[in-house]
Amino acid sequence: MSQRSGKSDPLTVYPTDSSDARPYDVWIQPGLLAEAGSFIGEACPAHRYAVISDSQVSDVYAKPLLAALASAGLEAELFKFAAGEWNKTREVWSEVTNGLLRAGVGRDAAIIALGGGVVGDLAGFIAATYMRGIRIAQIPTSLLAMVDSSVGGKTGLDTPAGKNLVGAFHQPSVVLVDPMLLRTLPNHQLAAGLSEALKHGLITDAEYFGQTRDQLDLIFGRDSDALCRLVRRSIEIKADVVSQDTHEVGYRRILNFGHTIAHALETVSGYGLLHGEAVAIGLWAEAAIGETLGVTAEGTAEEIRDVLVEARLPVELDSEIETEKFFEALSRDKKRLGDEARYSLISEIGRVAGSRESGWTQEVSNETVQEVLFG
Ligand SMILES: NC(=O)c1ccc[n+]([C@@H]2O[C@H](COP(=O)([O-])OP(=O)(O)OC[C@H]3O[C@@H](n4cnc5c(N)ncnc54)[C@H](O)[C@@H]3O)[C@@H](O)[C@H]2O)c1
Repeated sequence: MSQRSGKSDPLTVYPTDSSDARPYDVWIQPGLLAEAGSFIGEACPAHRYAVISDSQVSDVYAKPLLAALASAGLEAELFKFAAGEWNKTREVWSEVTNGLLRAGVGRDAAIIALGGGVVGDLAGFIAATYMRGIRIAQIPTSLLAMVDSSVGGKTGLDTPAGKNLVGAFHQPSVVLVDPMLLRTLPNHQLAAGLSEALKHGLITDAEYFGQTRDQLDLIFGRDSDALCRLVRRSIEIKADVVSQDTHEVGYRRILNFGHTIAHALETVSGYGLLHGEAVAIGLWAEAAIGETLGVTAEGTAEEIRDVLVEARLPVELDSEIETEKFFEALSRDKKRLGDEARYSLISEIGRVAGSRESGWTQEVSNETVQEVLFG
């Protein structure tokens, strides 16, 4: 690594499952895209690379990435699909996979995911399933993918029945985060990523939550130092949680705070709500549910709501969301245990509720959810 211009050390994620998943590094550095070739060549060696990206991201960043790979002597080809959550499907998985097969991509190849969470999840699932699994390097380009989805090895596809219902765990070989790429990300997408960063603070680190709130202007101004700090702390938190429970059988469930409501909202909105926007509504709603149950300190939901508004995130439910359809979507949630809907809640800002014994989740009745969300 000596000839690189890297200033900071990488974060290392240690998956703890018994499969062949190995520890991997997450590098966070402005300007990293131009150096992607040497990092990928070392941490994710392959004879050939399939760069998977969406139509919007590839327009801006495929050329510089392919140039960076070529300058490191790596052979690569671009495979793209139309941007948008509604394309994170088995149909698009099949189209892209067929493209790889037609191009003669073999087991000695690796995938590079260049894009937001949709690209990361889809390309990750392709990597998990292609020829029974090939390596993948993640280059997240949205804030949400940088602070959250590129790390942890969850891959998946949406189905008409709900979000992420088909998927696999497949850890990346390396993650390269270049915060400069966020300069072209629209503000509402940046805000959507902030909701996951705020969640990280809410579940484990009140100081980080407060610091993020205080630095919102710098973050929206794309200040490089503020973005590096934000991404680094979020990944530290996520990596720590994932290292304790790679396959989400216990502690990792705390990352689902806000997400039980969010996934149902996303599904019923026909993906009109961005994932991060749905998470924002989910964060305050699940805090309010916690207050109703006496699990969460009083006033927490209001405080969260104020910060979400400052972070330019929605907190109101769209009046067109139908109660019945919402509960139908909720009933298909993966986090159910038998007939029970399980929620990961917080006891106060920076502290998750529950314990190992409770599986870090609690049962919440639909009546309580209805009262909080629909009045
Ligand atoms: N695997 C996980 O652990 C995990 C965690 C959280 C979320 N997710 C998933 O992530 C997805 C949401 O990710 P997302 O918010 O990144 O959505 P996305 O991938 O759709 O990206 C949002 C939009 O921004 C564009 N874009 C991305 N980077 C850009 C850039 N630098 N400049 C300009 N435009 C850019 C994309 O083309 C897209 O149109 C959801 O499907 C969610 O389920 C997965």
